[in-house]
Amino acid sequence: MTILVLGGYGTTGKTLSELLLEYGDGDVVVAGRSLEKAEQAARELGLRFPSRVTARAADAADAASLARALDGVGLVAVAASVLEHAGTVAQAALDAGADYFDLLLSGDAKFAALEDLRPRMEADGRCFITDGGIHPGLSAVLIRALAPAFGRLEHASVGGLLKVDWGAYDFQPSTIHEFANEFRDFRVEALRDGVWTRLAWRDAQRSFDFGPPWGGERCTLMYMKELELLPGQLPSLSDCGFYVSGFNPVVDTTVLPLGMVVMKASPGTLGKPYSRLLAWSLRRFSRPPYGTVFQVEAEGEGRAGEALRAGLRITHPDGYWLTAAAAAACLLQWQDGSLREPGLHLQALAADPARLLLDLWRMGAGLEGRGVEVAGLVAGLLGDSVATA
Ligand SMILES: NC(=O)c1ccc[n+]([C@@H]2O[C@H](COP(=O)([O-])OP(=O)(O)OC[C@H]3O[C@@H](n4cnc5c(N)ncnc54)[C@H](OP(=O)(O)O)[C@@H]3O)[C@@H](O)[C@H]2O)c1
Repeated sequence: MTILVLGGYGTTGKTLSELLLEYGDGDVVVAGRSLEKAEQAARELGLRFPSRVTARAADAADAASLARALDGVGLVAVAASVLEHAGTVAQAALDAGADYFDLLLSGDAKFAALEDLRPRMEADGRCFITDGGIHPGLSAVLIRALAPAFGRLEHASVGGLLKVDWGAYDFQPSTIHEFANEFRDFRVEALRDGVWTRLAWRDAQRSFDFGPPWGGERCTLMYMKELELLPGQLPSLSDCGFYVSGFNPVVDTTVLPLGMVVMKASPGTLGKPYSRLLAWSLRRFSRPPYGTVFQVEAEGEGRAGEALRAGLRITHPDGYWLTAAAAAACLLQWQDGSLREPGLHLQALAADPARLLLDLWRMGAGLEGRGVEVAGLVAGLLGDSVATA
């Protein structure tokens, strides 16, 4: 049951370690390249959770160090900015007989590396979960959780408001570089009339009302693998997409478009200076109110065939907390054995969606419904015993 959190003293990893200790029943190993930092974080967490947390050194780029770190571990949870080493960590997990989870950014290279290992995951009976967190990780969870309110769910759009107080965090340069790299692969794609489609920029904008204090916010369509695969589970879905809010006016109008050019044209030479510019402009120009909102707005037929519009919204003041909490909620399902199917899974498509939302709420996230009563929806999905509890 022991979970090793790689990047366990980073922004997301430290909160993930804490939530696993608070809501889970296994032990946690905090790991990263610095044993000193890992020990410091383990000492702090150990004050609240005595004898359940230890520290180890582990470098995602170094197979030998991973082999040492993963000895006796049940699952490695990757919360470090090590996108390019996902394959190395996954291979080390298989060699150590451990399961795998990551909340890394989505990307073709990561999927290719993991897909290569899928036959061995299946042969060895290992459960690998990728695209954890919220972005990716939560869009398809929200739609799947809402779907049982419909007899026929046809349209579902997810809006993500990410207003982050970037100055409050101390990121590694590699984390911002990974983030900038995402601009290179930015794709404006959605499900339209039942076909996964690339859209023109002019058709890629829409507004969402995220509620007070933000109100209406213009968002841009962004490719999300979990939504491309979602019709496999919800065949009635004909239109579906994920829309993300902007960061701040300077980044949205200048720095971000520049990044799309720079990170495509010359990621090697200009990537690092551009990442510094991005980090500076995120910190310099972002303004309150801060907070994170993920919401689905859906349409279709209700269970009696009537026209139905309904939505679900999940909120928290801190987007990094919400990322860690979504990962922890998924890992609770791994821990109790309900999410252990051998093979390669996406968090958003494999986790029990009602339980994941309920656990997020238990941990402190806001959860509200529109046109649907959340308590009834979640209770119906979970069964009477959990609802009563
Ligand atoms: N899915 C989502 O919703 C979502 C949301 C936000 C962030 N993320 C992703 O989460 C990851 C972590 O982000 P963050 O903001 O928490 O990062 P961060 O605060 O900068 O921390 C990064 C951590 O990774 C560790 N690390 C870096 N290189 C490593 C290596 N080679 N081996 C082992 N550990 C290494 C760092 O420690 P050392 O340098 O000391 O080793 C540090 O602890 C990123 O990949 C980010 O893109 C996902």
